[in-house]
Amino acid sequence: MHQTPVSIAVIGAGGRGRGFAEMIKHSFSHLARVVAVAEPRDAYRRDVAALWQLPDERVFCDWRALVAQPKLADAVIVATLDREHAGPAIACLDKGCHLFLEKPMAVTLAECEAIAAAATRAKAITTVCHSLRYHKGKRLLADIVRSGRIGRVMTLDQIEQVAWWHQAHSFVRGNWGDSRTSTFMLMAKSCHDLDYIASLTDEECARVSSFGSLTHFRPEQAPAGAAARCVACAIEPECKYSAIRHYVNANREHWPAVVCSHDHSREAHYRAITDGPYGRCVWHCGNDVVDHQVVAMEFSGGMTATFTMTGFTQHNSRMIRVNGTEGEALFDGDITVRDFASGNEERIHVAAEHGGHGGGDERLMLDWLRALHANDASLVRTSVHESLRTHRIVFAAEKARQERRVVELREMMPG
Ligand SMILES: NC(=O)c1ccc[n+]([C@@H]2O[C@H](COP(=O)([O-])OP(=O)(O)OC[C@H]3O[C@@H](n4cnc5c(N)ncnc54)[C@H](O)[C@@H]3O)[C@@H](O)[C@H]2O)c1
Repeated sequence: MHQTPVSIAVIGAGGRGRGFAEMIKHSFSHLARVVAVAEPRDAYRRDVAALWQLPDERVFCDWRALVAQPKLADAVIVATLDREHAGPAIACLDKGCHLFLEKPMAVTLAECEAIAAAATRAKAITTVCHSLRYHKGKRLLADIVRSGRIGRVMTLDQIEQVAWWHQAHSFVRGNWGDSRTSTFMLMAKSCHDLDYIASLTDEECARVSSFGSLTHFRPEQAPAGAAARCVACAIEPECKYSAIRHYVNANREHWPAVVCSHDHSREAHYRAITDGPYGRCVWHCGNDVVDHQVVAMEFSGGMTATFTMTGFTQHNSRMIRVNGTEGEALFDGDITVRDFASGNEERIHVAAEHGGHGGGDERLMLDWLRALHANDASLVRTSVHESLRTHRIVFAAEKARQERRVVELREMMPG
């Protein structure tokens, strides 16, 4: 049992990593303190160093320099981009650190398995940031389904409404538009969803099929007159994807506009869209990830589930429908539970919560910190081992989409 705050090193202090450093400072400083940071971008690195008053010898430009030191912290937060998860995660586990790993675990199944193996070797307490499982409404829905109130679950349908502007920001212009430098869409965005679906049942996913493509955000779909950049585009004033609208005239200190520059003056954001990635025309970004995809799953006990990810919605939210033998439960922000025999319907209001992902980020961090203090890995719902189990479904679904066939989950098992 830890009596003093756990010491933590932050690896990758961008949007997520810096956010966690701030979260710990403001909400959990009784449980943890940040003692080191590794981040190549000067301004972002300096922010975390200043927030935690870190001495120069605890501030690094690269995770490799941090792990080359003797062990600096009890635990690490790895919040680098997707392709740079396995390296720092395994190196830190091998040094005996506990691990908070941003999702996805990694971009290949072999890397995910290597992370899980390193965690086993180190007997580390780990969590993968599947914040959806910790979101208040989704957690309540899971409790209802798990309680048996709607009977045995037969079918489940989940829609991830990415929203047209979020699709354009993250998965066309942003870090996750190109699978060759990040990962495929289902992994980047929807590993949360397949993880959540798998968490609602004790049945194991047995097989999957999937369809989807990049249909809209392609050069041949560009409207006549669209230029390569919004700042030089004749049709920019009428275009709903205008970078001037989304990154200069929007609230520049709020996500998503906040991402495009460290300096939030109007001039700095205008400069960022003049020569940076967020000013590119959404039909001329060289992106390759799908803008819509559907997955069908069959589980070991006969339960079936469907999942749809679509970049063409107004709101960025999820809709979930779970149908059991005795009733049904629907999530649409609030929850509706209907009982077949009595005809009763209960509407449960889910109050909005402060913090990232509807409070899910804070709750997940708190569970991990409590687990570290109690030295009890069972307090975490989303260890690397559990995440590996559900990442296998994601890899299987993408294989099914690419190979246009049903993929058995046993194909994804080692040996
Ligand atoms: N859990 C969620 O719901 C959720 C939401 C958004 C993003 N993410 C994931 O979080 C991760 C980070 O995303 P982000 O939005 O913060 O991206 P980001 O680009 O803002 O942050 C990544 C940071 O890693 C830094 N970095 C690059 N190379 C490094 C190195 N060698 N050593 C140390 N740091 C290095 C970059 O400079 C950058 O600041 C990604 O894997 C992303 O998929 C998860």
